[in-house]
Amino acid sequence: MNLRVMEKEDLPLFAEWVNKPEFIGEYNPLRQLSRTEIEKNYEKSSFEQGEFIIEKKDGSKIGYVWHFTTVHPAAKLLEIGYFMVPSETGKGYCSEAAKIIVDYLFLSKDIVRIQAHTDLRNAASQKVLEKVGFRKEGISRKSIFNRGEWRDAYLYSILREEWKGPRILTKTP
Ligand SMILES: CC(C)(COP(=O)(O)OP(=O)(O)OC[C@H]1O[C@@H](n2cnc3c(N)ncnc32)[C@H](O)[C@@H]1OP(=O)(O)O)[C@@H](O)C(=O)NCCC(=O)NCCS
Repeated sequence: MNLRVMEKEDLPLFAEWVNKPEFIGEYNPLRQLSRTEIEKNYEKSSFEQGEFIIEKKDGSKIGYVWHFTTVHPAAKLLEIGYFMVPSETGKGYCSEAAKIIVDYLFLSKDIVRIQAHTDLRNAASQKVLEKVGFRKEGISRKSIFNRGEWRDAYLYSILREEWKGPRILTKTP
């Protein structure tokens, strides 16, 4: 499995994915985004925001992982999120993708922490974060508006000093 920077050519597939409730999953806000909105968002790629397609060795596209920030850039933290094609879940791919993006972010950016929010009921996502070395910090109250209600989320984080070094990506000489 491999992570590849999302290209403009991937946007039609991404639009198909993101507008499907079964891709977004029951614990994340439903979205119906037009191709134009998706393109505008894609153009914003920056230090804070990066988007990647998760691909299998045979080239099939099975998921999406991204980093972004919801706070002032001076905070030196980034947040991650991920989504898998439902038929490809439970095979360890997301955990592998999350390890790669954590390695990539700590190797390439001067940040001190990476964080993630998950709905309290999203056990699969919590398992992914724990397998990658994130720690549960606490509950972020009413932070996800989903299916007409404000839901609490767990806030997870991994600090640079807790990161065990690149487990998949290796440092270039
Ligand atoms: C969350 C998600 C990305 C996980 O992807 P995945 O490829 O299945 O993840 P992995 O296979 O690497 O790991 C999932 C782990 O959760 C476990 N798991 C799955 N469902 C579970 C459940 N209901 N309760 C407890 N553990 C569960 C799996 O057994 C696995 O752990 P293991 O490797 O120790 O067996 C995927 O389910 C998804 O796309 N969900 C919808 C979108 C979403 O919720 N994204 C996260 C937003 S915060």
